[in-house]
Amino acid sequence: MIEIVPSILSADFARLAEEMARVERGGATMLHLDVMDGHFVPNLTIGPPVVESLRKATRAHLDAHLMIENPERYAVDFVRAGANSVSVHYEACRHLDGTLELIRKAGALAGVVLNPATPVAVLEDILQVADYVLLMSVNPGFGGQQLIPYVLDKVRKLDRMRREKKLALPIEIDGGVHLNNLAQVVRAGCDWIVTGSAIFHSADAEATVREMRGIAANAMAIPI
Ligand code: DX5
Ligand code: ZN
Repeated sequence: MIEIVPSILSADFARLAEEMARVERGGATMLHLDVMDGHFVPNLTIGPPVVESLRKATRAHLDAHLMIENPERYAVDFVRAGANSVSVHYEACRHLDGTLELIRKAGALAGVVLNPATPVAVLEDILQVADYVLLMSVNPGFGGQQLIPYVLDKVRKLDRMRREKKLALPIEIDGGVHLNNLAQVVRAGCDWIVTGSAIFHSADAEATVREMRGIAANAMAIPI
């Protein structure tokens, strides 16, 4: 099942509850929350208190993407605040296996994120204990960037890896996904498709989610 996952990074932060309700009316059941610390990436965003408030305003699956140093210190706080899934960067974790375990024990799905330049081969062994993998299709830090084309080759490789290992874990992609490249992204093998500016900078966020869900469903229906 393909999910279009709106990233609230490009939403109006003064009206987050309304913005979430809008994309949910369009059919979104998952929402992506970008957490940045000004160290791992050159930008700052939200922390657990904001997630806690969002939790009270929606029943959607809240997907937290931690772009922070030392994610093991904060990951559980995001689960307690109400995140249903929490992903941490391979590049930021000294003890990745232990950090995934912390997240899972706290009650959320535990995901591994790779920056564009990090090869999927590093996932060889950790794949069996990860609940999902997020492949960054831009360098993390900001919305509104262009999708880096070679990341789609990484998606295809990861799709092969999971099939070979008979693992059902979802592949998530994040950055630069728009109406015009969505079908290609779906056909490469992505399941959870994060998209921020394409939705929240469009004239009608609800209609755009609906349109994207339609494109994704059609792309799946066309055999390759
Ligand atoms: C980038 C963030 C993304 C961002 C995607 O560091 O992780 O989630 O919101 O935004 P778009 O869809 O505009 O590239
Ligand atoms: Zn993200």
